[in-house]
Amino acid sequence: MVRDFQERRLKEGVAEQLIDAARYAPRAGNTEGIRYLLLEGDNVGDYWDATLAKDVRREFPWPGLLKAPTLIVVWVSPPQYLSRYQEADKERSGLGDNESSWSTPYWWVDGGMASMSILLGAESQNLGTLFFGLFEHESAVKSKFNIPDEFRAIGTIAIGYAAEEQRKSKSTLRDRLPVESLLFG
Ligand SMILES: Cc1cc2nc3c(=O)[nH]c(=O)nc-3n(C[C@H](O)[C@H](O)[C@H](O)COP(=O)(O)O)c2cc1C
Repeated sequence: MVRDFQERRLKEGVAEQLIDAARYAPRAGNTEGIRYLLLEGDNVGDYWDATLAKDVRREFPWPGLLKAPTLIVVWVSPPQYLSRYQEADKERSGLGDNESSWSTPYWWVDGGMASMSILLGAESQNLGTLFFGLFEHESAVKSKFNIPDEFRAIGTIAIGYAAEEQRKSKSTLRDRLPVESLLFG
């Protein structure tokens, strides 16, 4: 992941192409429950205004993240999944009744799949990316950008050209387990 970006815009249409490709990510029941907030240009500043108060910003350890020219916020609608699973081919699953019927709530899984598709698509074009959380700022982002209430945030993807110098996050210093340790049995 990249947390320091150059102030260089993506070529026109690149972000839309990444979202277009994410339409082919796997999704439970082929539900149309994912939407995107694409922010480029001045809108990017509006996002940071909603999530990073000016006094916090002064101390923010990743100022190079604010230079990312493009942000894509990925959203999912749990009610869309319930509606889909009430349809004739899915109603026997019993998953259309309420969100708590889902042992694995697939809107989170599908949102992750779509996000990964965007990340891989961007990386394959030699762009840098960061997937990061909205945490306590989800409702501020929703009201700033008029996101309908039924939607929940998966996360935000910053996309751009990586700066030469990268400040590492502590998480990146953790080793990855070797594959043998990942296998049960
Ligand atoms: C669900 C999720 C949430 C994440 N949230 C943040 C975040 O809020 N801030 C951040 O800097 N990185 C965030 N990351 C990025 C991880 O820290 C990063 O993928 C991990 O440290 C591995 O880094 P690398 O891909 O550069 O090796 C998140 C990643 C995922 C998958």
